[in-house]
Amino acid sequence: MAYNLLKGKRGIITGALDENSIAWKVAEKAHEEGASFVLTNAPIAMRMGEIKKLAEKTGSEIIPADATSVEDLTNLFTKSQEVLGGKIDFVLHSIGMSVNVRKNVPYVESNYEYFQKGIDVSAMSLHKMLSVAWKLDAINEWGSVVALTYMAAQRVFPFYTDMADIKAMLESIARSFGYQYGLSKKVRINTVSQSPTKTTAGTGIKGFGDFYDYANAIAPLGNATAEDCANYCITLFSDLTRMVTMQNLFHDGGYSNTGVSMEVMQKLGITG
Ligand code: NAI
Repeated sequence: MAYNLLKGKRGIITGALDENSIAWKVAEKAHEEGASFVLTNAPIAMRMGEIKKLAEKTGSEIIPADATSVEDLTNLFTKSQEVLGGKIDFVLHSIGMSVNVRKNVPYVESNYEYFQKGIDVSAMSLHKMLSVAWKLDAINEWGSVVALTYMAAQRVFPFYTDMADIKAMLESIARSFGYQYGLSKKVRINTVSQSPTKTTAGTGIKGFGDFYDYANAIAPLGNATAEDCANYCITLFSDLTRMVTMQNLFHDGGYSNTGVSMEVMQKLGITG
């Protein structure tokens, strides 16, 4: 059901790779809720062509941008305002990649070139995006920026290796920039800490399948889907959450506040 929550709003949505992507679902929902937006992804991801289907479905333009390039991001924010006819009201940062995770490098043996690449793509890119938007004064007052993160930033999940540290940095940038942007332009910035979700980035993590089931058995509501996450992001882009900023918001079916569940105890044979 649509509520016109984003009627007349203009946005930039990063990270829609295929229909499993969280960003893909956000774009579908934002379209349903009346927003107009630009889709963007790294030029290399664009070659897969899937994003064109989403652009057609949602009547959006695609502007390629490598999120590590200030030049590309400047072009993205400049052109998006031209295409959409005004300043931007919402931005989704849905970008994550760790070469150490991809190559199964153990945390204690992290390769530092890979580590730096991961920081640049997955955390510093948020700072670059916000800094470019700031310089161009590209975001409207009461605009909203959401970046997706994972709870390994607070608690240890060994398989998440360097991405845990990178997500901690991402969340810190959201807080630090959230202060500055709130004060000067009333722009809010939050991170959404999402359940494990079966996407390209998610399933690229070794042991993801088993962990997905474990998290599902711990969380009283079960794992939140990509679609649930999209719904939550829409509320954060809407005017109904204008005073929420600098927060890391858990969207995980209750996982983060559950020590253990009866289901897991029973599976371990600890209780009857
Ligand atoms: P996905 O693989 O569909 O999306 C990741 C996106 O990052 C892709 O579209 C990819 O092309 C883009 N990307 C990579 N390098 C880039 C670059 N240099 N410039 C621009 N874009 C680039 O996977 P998913 O799961 O939708 O990931 C979206 C966000 O959600 C990520 O930040 C991820 O860490 C986060 N997240 C995912 C969870 C999961 O279990 N799937 C759980 C919690 C957070």
